[in-house]
Amino acid sequence: MKMSLNSSWMFIKDYTSLFNNEILKNGCIISLPHTVEKVPLNYLNDQTYQTVSAYQKQFNVTIDPKKSYYLDLEGFMLQADIYLNDIYLGHYISGFLPVKIDITDKVKGQNILTIILDSREDKNIPPFGFIVDYFTFGGIYRDVNLIIKDKLNIDDAFVTATIDGKVNVDVKINNPANCQYSLKYLVKNNEGSVIKESNSAEFLVNDIKLWNINEPNLYLLEIHLKSEEYEDIKQIRFGFRKAEFKKDGFYLNNKKIKLIGLNRHQVYPYVGYAAPKLLQEDDAITLKKDIGINIVRTSHYPQSEYFLDKCDEIGLLVIDEVPGWQHIGIEKEWRETFYNFIERMVLKERNHTSLIGYGVRIDESQDDHELYSKANQIVHTLDNTRQTLGVRNFKKSECLEDIYAYNDFTCCSTTHGLDDPRKSCDKDKPYIISEHDGHMFSTKPTDSSSDRLTQALRHATVINDAYKYERVSACIGWCFVDYYTHGNFGSGDHICYHGVMDINRNPKFAASIYKSQLSNDFVMDILSNLDAGDNAENLPGLIYIATNLDYIKLYKGDKYINTFYPDKSNYKYLPHPLVVINDFIGKTFNEPRFKEKDYSKFVYAINTIRNIGIAHMDKKTKLYLVELTLKYHLQYKDIVDLYNRYVTDVDYLTPYIFEGYSNGQLVVVKKVGVSKTYHIEISSRYKSIKLTDNYEIIPVKVKYVDEYNNVMPYIQTPIQIRVEGPIELVSDPNLPLIGGMQTILVKTSQKEGIGRIIVNFQNQEKVYEIKLIK
Ligand code: GAL
Repeated sequence: MKMSLNSSWMFIKDYTSLFNNEILKNGCIISLPHTVEKVPLNYLNDQTYQTVSAYQKQFNVTIDPKKSYYLDLEGFMLQADIYLNDIYLGHYISGFLPVKIDITDKVKGQNILTIILDSREDKNIPPFGFIVDYFTFGGIYRDVNLIIKDKLNIDDAFVTATIDGKVNVDVKINNPANCQYSLKYLVKNNEGSVIKESNSAEFLVNDIKLWNINEPNLYLLEIHLKSEEYEDIKQIRFGFRKAEFKKDGFYLNNKKIKLIGLNRHQVYPYVGYAAPKLLQEDDAITLKKDIGINIVRTSHYPQSEYFLDKCDEIGLLVIDEVPGWQHIGIEKEWRETFYNFIERMVLKERNHTSLIGYGVRIDESQDDHELYSKANQIVHTLDNTRQTLGVRNFKKSECLEDIYAYNDFTCCSTTHGLDDPRKSCDKDKPYIISEHDGHMFSTKPTDSSSDRLTQALRHATVINDAYKYERVSACIGWCFVDYYTHGNFGSGDHICYHGVMDINRNPKFAASIYKSQLSNDFVMDILSNLDAGDNAENLPGLIYIATNLDYIKLYKGDKYINTFYPDKSNYKYLPHPLVVINDFIGKTFNEPRFKEKDYSKFVYAINTIRNIGIAHMDKKTKLYLVELTLKYHLQYKDIVDLYNRYVTDVDYLTPYIFEGYSNGQLVVVKKVGVSKTYHIEISSRYKSIKLTDNYEIIPVKVKYVDEYNNVMPYIQTPIQIRVEGPIELVSDPNLPLIGGMQTILVKTSQKEGIGRIIVNFQNQEKVYEIKLIK
């Protein structure tokens, strides 16, 4: 039995006294997950969370001498002294890993649990010891449960399932009294029917459906332990699949797939790391369904079980990583903690079907033969079914892992993506790109459209190269969302703007690049608002469209201009090259005084001047202009007149219309033009929430759009937010729209009803309702 201990804690920040039971009287009441300090949208001072706090909780339990009692703390930052009923249980280090404490001989009917939590960075514990490019926050930021089991119980089990239906279960039993017992194994399908029963830990299941990224079929293993006096049941979800990185790529169930993904930090505004279940799951959905990627790296530490569970459910592959960042400690204590973290990481994560590799090397650290030989050995002893990888940022480093992982930051423009893998790794090893882009072109959601486009094109160039080099099995970009960081990194506001989404999980143009390559939906994202003033020299420039469609027809109002196809010359290897629009005149050019066969030369020349400017004209344009001027005795003024007629004076209030076609069918239509009217929209993928013992945080999105439904990124007026019903506002009540978007976070309680989020913006009021049901 699992009893949640998440609610009704007393909390005191900056706790300096020695431990005593007075905490109960003086603290404020909080629930877990909890952050020691509310996190502002930016300019967070890390000293506000690097502190010692006290948490205390009273709980009652019926004591049964046949039972064992365990405290299960899934994550707190960073280390704690823990007391139960005035008895010191010990000093525990969590950081990113769970802590389980047997309290059987100390628990009573009425209990007081006290945790004195130290959230300061400690140089003896990875990732600390030197500089770190991320904030780690403070608090008991994951769930705390009391686990009550019979004295004879299943401590842990590891299930492996192969694609031919073979299952192997490795069970570890707590058996203090050395009882005789029996074990039985049941496998249930999705509908809950038992499809296999076995008395042996190795058995075969027939007619299985494999787990893969499109059909993530999962089964439930139930292990039944029984003796005369005791019994226990443990459930583990699993899938049948084979995952293998080879020298020529990654194979899932013997089928080769290119893995394209992003790195995830587990951070949110306001709550730091303390995101409950729904928010954790929401990230997995955003990565898989909204951005469309097939792999995530949990950089640079083990992440929430809720996140990993969701990855299993929706078919998002995962590679994890031991806590760290560049620094390897030479002190014995640091190294022992590192080994301990590796072991705990594997034990926490090895039953996740979506997990296909363990990151056992401190991200971007130097070679260390002793440290990494042992790290690999620890993993292989605990799980010999998965490969290890180690992330480095320098070429030809010693590779003790099964996979050579490399952070390739050579993309300095929109023309070079990745180095040839042979340059970085001369070993006979599978090869993955574990990071690219990121700091090479940091981009805020409020940056000019040309900067946001440049970030997107750099990601496209790298992904194009990932498809070019067969050896690149996976290409994982830096990173999913912007994140908080120390003053020696990031922008002056302590944020690294490296995300393809902002910290509120709202997309930048770069997110569309991923979506257009991998999504099963029709994608046609126009990476521009077509505003000339957003670009250098006031040039409207080319229009890039991230799309998986076959072709796009462009109109100005009802006037057809031209049809555009994927740009296979610049994005030769992408499954879906971008469509580049470079002709804004096309078939609208109509000048009977010229011969029709010369129209294309006029159109080419005028487009070039429009797109790249008179000062940058290419040779071809110059030649055309000379030829046409001589042939038709044109004056400079005539050329200017033509330019004005087809560029400057073109009815600017009439929008451009983009029609996207797939298999000859019109499937998407979008309009972009000078806007006249604006409004806000409020939406969420959550319409109703089933309440549990724990609170949830629900994201609700606000967008400022024009009459064509395009986001208006430069809006500066704040929105005012209030809530009604059984919800609380987590976000600030007055917020600017950032890049035309914002995410409002609201918190549920145990109360049912309708939660209303009311947004006021200028003279508009919009309401979003969420049903909260039991
Ligand atoms: C990498 C590092 C990441 C992050 C990134 C910034 O070197 O592994 O954690 O700092 O740079 O782009």
